[in-house]
Amino acid sequence: MAKYIVEQSGPLRGEVTISGSKNAVLPIMAATLLSDGVCEINDVPHLLDVDVMCEILRSLGSTVKEDWNAHTITVEPGKGDISEVPHELVKKMRASIFVMGPLLAKTGFASIALPGGCSIGNRPIDLHNKGLRLLGARILTGDGIVEASAPRNGLKGALVYLDFPSVGATENIMMAATLAKGSTVIENAAEEPEIVDLANFLNKMGAKIKGAGTDTIRIEGVETLHGTRHAVIPDRIETGTFMVAAAITRGDVLIKNSVPDHVRPVIAKLMECGASVNDEVDGLRVRGDLNELVSTDIKTLPYPGFPTDMQALFMALLTTVDGTSAVIETVFENRFMHAAELSRMGANIRVDGRTAIVPGNKHQLTGAHVISTDLRAGAALVLAGLVAKGTTEVSEIYHIERGYENFHEKLTALGAKIERIED
Ligand code: EPZ
Repeated sequence: MAKYIVEQSGPLRGEVTISGSKNAVLPIMAATLLSDGVCEINDVPHLLDVDVMCEILRSLGSTVKEDWNAHTITVEPGKGDISEVPHELVKKMRASIFVMGPLLAKTGFASIALPGGCSIGNRPIDLHNKGLRLLGARILTGDGIVEASAPRNGLKGALVYLDFPSVGATENIMMAATLAKGSTVIENAAEEPEIVDLANFLNKMGAKIKGAGTDTIRIEGVETLHGTRHAVIPDRIETGTFMVAAAITRGDVLIKNSVPDHVRPVIAKLMECGASVNDEVDGLRVRGDLNELVSTDIKTLPYPGFPTDMQALFMALLTTVDGTSAVIETVFENRFMHAAELSRMGANIRVDGRTAIVPGNKHQLTGAHVISTDLRAGAALVLAGLVAKGTTEVSEIYHIERGYENFHEKLTALGAKIERIED
């Protein structure tokens, strides 16, 4: 197992270029299963999760070529006669559930191990199943497997109301509806930029989708979808991570290839804390060295609210500012695991249900041996280690490497003292 050794590093300075979005590229890769032709995807981040999705597509008969110098993958669909995803691949990445909708729509059948929970919550798929059933699928779950089968004459469009604006459910249902007969409306849909990027990719393949990015998405079914070429949007959570890295170290960092519109809540909250954020020609410039940083309160919400994926990163920052902050997590039921790890560094955070009280830190954090419980928690512990006195050892870093491309190399280029060692 690998780990990071992080030394107190002083202010980060310089510029960093954001990679393509993990949470956009994974459903887009799954969507290639709907295509009759070759798809070329550009600006693909080279992540562990992307490697797993390549393996899943290959296991389903697709030919996948990877060119990491060009950050491009090319996917040529198979004959569409394989509908079962190998369990050992599903266990590696819960986002494999994204292939259920495309497989069902294209082949009429999908069999996949239930993705199961993770440290941040039990991650059910009831809303995915509700939507696919409304499109006519028969869904059976048992022995840890979910099997979906379409009627003989294919899926039919329907009105689907999502009880919660689930990102994955919106994506699975939207992908399945592209080849259903008639029209589908998804109400209370998720509005994340990754949904818009997926819809843009599908429309370039010949799908007829309107309203992505709003709470109501309309899909007109078509007979077939053809290949296309698409460049993935930049990763807004990686963007937010480096924005917080600049603030927590009281540095001055230019974040290139970022989309300010995708990180509005993060910009607003950083400015409330006293950091400066300027939308410059070459990117977002974040400075944490101009004012004394102060506390603020955070409440995570579905997009366009403050992103749950930024909650751990922001909590790390709030342990270093003047004053006490409240952090409320409304999206996942167990996403404060990093609070205990930060407290081992001297943060003294009190968690009560969905609320964490984060006292500011008059005295400095101190280095400790801490464990990454999920990819964002792991990243937050690295950022805390950059400002803690002494040395911080962050273990279980495969979580981090699942979701951040060249994470420690990018930090090192900004002046961070961080080393990756194999245990
Ligand atoms: C996506 O997960 C992201 N992952 C997550 O990013 C992100 O945190 C999450 O959306 C919320 O923004 C990918 O895109 C690969 P949800 P997803 O379905 O689709 C409940 C990261 O850090 N729910 O919107 O699984 C669920 O339990 C990862 O990159 C149901 O109840 O998130 C949770 O409480 C972590 N039933 C809430 O909705 C369902 O059928 C949000 O889940 C589905 C979800």
